Amino acid sequence: MSGPNQRYHDRIAPRYDDVYADDPYWDLYHDISWRALKPHLPSDQSHPVLDVGCGTGLYGLRLAKSRFKVCFSDLSARMLDVAARKAEEQFPKAQHRFVQADITDLAPFTTAEFSMVVGQGDPLSFASDWRKALRSVHRVLRPNGVAVLSVDSRFGGCQPFVTRKDYDGLQRFLRSGDSEWLADRREERFPLHAFTPDELREGFKRAGFSVLSLIGKTVFAERNQAAVLEDATLRAQVLRLEEEWNGTEFGLARAHHLQVAARKAAE
Ligand SMILES: C[S@@+](CC[C@H](N)C(=O)[O-])C[C@H]1O[C@@H](n2cnc3c(N)ncnc32)[C@H](O)[C@@H]1O
Repeated sequence: MSGPNQRYHDRIAPRYDDVYADDPYWDLYHDISWRALKPHLPSDQSHPVLDVGCGTGLYGLRLAKSRFKVCFSDLSARMLDVAARKAEEQFPKAQHRFVQADITDLAPFTTAEFSMVVGQGDPLSFASDWRKALRSVHRVLRPNGVAVLSVDSRFGGCQPFVTRKDYDGLQRFLRSGDSEWLADRREERFPLHAFTPDELREGFKRAGFSVLSLIGKTVFAERNQAAVLEDATLRAQVLRLEEEWNGTEFGLARAHHLQVAARKAAE
């Protein structure tokens, strides 16, 4: 039986791409995410890579374009349907896999199956137990394999509490990082966890990874000023500033999302 998280994502799947299409902010956001991920792509393309929480396939399809054999996986069957349709249109001859799985256990996959695990759009924050999810990601990675995961940032998530003057709520959130996805429909609300940079570094270390990079997304670009990014010169200037500052403590504290790249030790 599906829970609120899956119900919500199943319902929004058919129009998910419309929310992000033709939006200069999200275009820059995905550009920053991919540019930070790219240096960690495996040099050997003979092993499959996993896009976990793939949604409609944005990153898996980019990996497929870079000639990796991709396994698309998601909690939501409807998201997987959209990803599969797009993959069929874009790469009709390729044989990618589509597997419904929860990042918390990744039970359908064998140990050390993938040379890379990508989890963009915060599936780790949506996991019912993020520590268990990190151990699962670690299990399915090959030795020396790299995970690149994005999550919600705790410091970046404070503003709604301040706007509502909900200082008790703010204090609880700052201490625990626990919050709720505020779907319009009450029956589709589910818990989410927002991370501090230190908690994320420590969590990856405990799961057996060494952290290669940690960035904040975005530091200066703002969703309500997306139109600024339609100017190519200003966009290039903002991108340069983002990449200069997104690995600093200042950048990590300002951003709404964090992206970590971490390596599983060689055996
Ligand atoms: C914001 S979307 C991001 C989709 C895609 N990765 C992207 O960046 O465009 C988050 C995705 O994570 C999936 N998800 C949520 N919780 C999950 C879980 N526990 N395990 C696996 N996937 C999950 C959702 O179904 C949804 O497709």
